[in-house]
Amino acid sequence: MTSNTPASTPPTVERPITWPTVDFSRVPYDVFTDPQIYRQEMDKLFRGEVWNYLGMECEIPAWGDYQTTWIGDTQIVVTRAKDGSVNAFENSCAHRGARIVDKLRGNAKRHTCPYHLWTYNLAGDLTGVPLEKGHNGKGGMPPCFEKKDHGLRTLRVATRGGLIFGTYCDTTEPLEDYLGPHSVAQIDRLLVQRKPKVIGYLRQKIPGNWKLYNENVRDPYHASLLHLFQVSFGIQTPAMQGGIKLDKDGKNTWNHSIMGANDNANLGQLSDAYADTGKLMPDLEMHDPSLLQVPLDLGDGYKTTLLSMFPTLIVAQVGNTYAVRHLRPKGPDAVELHIAYLGFEGDTPEQLHNRLLAVNLIGPAGYISMEDGEALRLVQEGVKARRGDHSVLEMGGIGKPHDTDYLSQEISIRGFWQHYHRMMGFAPAGTPNREEESV
Ligand code: FES
Ligand SMILES: [Fe+2]
Repeated sequence: MTSNTPASTPPTVERPITWPTVDFSRVPYDVFTDPQIYRQEMDKLFRGEVWNYLGMECEIPAWGDYQTTWIGDTQIVVTRAKDGSVNAFENSCAHRGARIVDKLRGNAKRHTCPYHLWTYNLAGDLTGVPLEKGHNGKGGMPPCFEKKDHGLRTLRVATRGGLIFGTYCDTTEPLEDYLGPHSVAQIDRLLVQRKPKVIGYLRQKIPGNWKLYNENVRDPYHASLLHLFQVSFGIQTPAMQGGIKLDKDGKNTWNHSIMGANDNANLGQLSDAYADTGKLMPDLEMHDPSLLQVPLDLGDGYKTTLLSMFPTLIVAQVGNTYAVRHLRPKGPDAVELHIAYLGFEGDTPEQLHNRLLAVNLIGPAGYISMEDGEALRLVQEGVKARRGDHSVLEMGGIGKPHDTDYLSQEISIRGFWQHYHRMMGFAPAGTPNREEESV
């Protein structure tokens, strides 16, 4: 008997994922590229003790309204029941797994699988099985078959400020505790004091890992560097006041900046901040500055507030543009950024116009988001061959993640990794893990 496999083929040794520092100032590049890590994230993280963002209540206002969304790789249907409650279930039939709902959104009082027409109510309970009793006394399901045992896989749902969240886990802490006081206060500030409505959707497919976006949105350090035009046009400068606040786990960040009267007084004095880059161009001007002349409409002085909630939600106020950004991972090296732009009940036509105008700044083809997407692509390209190596996160100081009153920092990124590391059950950071010792 012959074999194509030489008897002496050595066993494959998986490279261990190591986190060299306890403060997460080093992040293994493998977490952005390894397909096995990606699969583990689906189970340990998205199906673990997290509240996943599912949509906004204003998107499904009426009985039977539904829309589909994603938790990691899993498609979810979110529906409004007759009693006004919101339900969420997996979009996969309890019979043989077919996708049930094909549209992005719509209205239906029940959902029927196209394959063998098993039918479910708005809570995901199985209510109809064609030929359940067979025909002419023959066939059908066995006597022990009970419809109540074959409902769709449902999620526990909670809402705050019109945002809908779902969790697979009975032990996930109450939503407000999970969000933390800063997130709750900002959700109330942005979404409760005025009644939001969606004024448009955009999707951005980014060729980078979903966690790179979580880094990017927790990274005010890059805001006046990658987006250098923001400095030239006085939108964001390194001199701007602001800071970050973290929740108890470090996973959720509120990052804010305040435009001060003197921020743009002398951009030339910023030359130290751009030492040796040759990039600062303070004399550039916009031909059409109308984009920059839209007044802030909340009146509380915050120029930009980015609320990043673990694992995939960002509620952003950039000037007077309001958006809910949702990350939909598409494998280790791609993510879809789904953006719902918001206006508010009672907006004047001028306010609506200004909000849509400002989308030019942060939509997928807008100046800012286009650059962020490109930065993610560059990182994904840059790290794919650096297996076993680590990034460096030291800007703003090292040590345990904490709140800051400054913006040139990567501390909030380290907070994200601290929680990610715990959720994924990696070996303790700062020590070799067991596999490494045994190799
Ligand atoms: S797979 Fe859905 S009814 Fe058969
Ligand atoms: Fe950015």
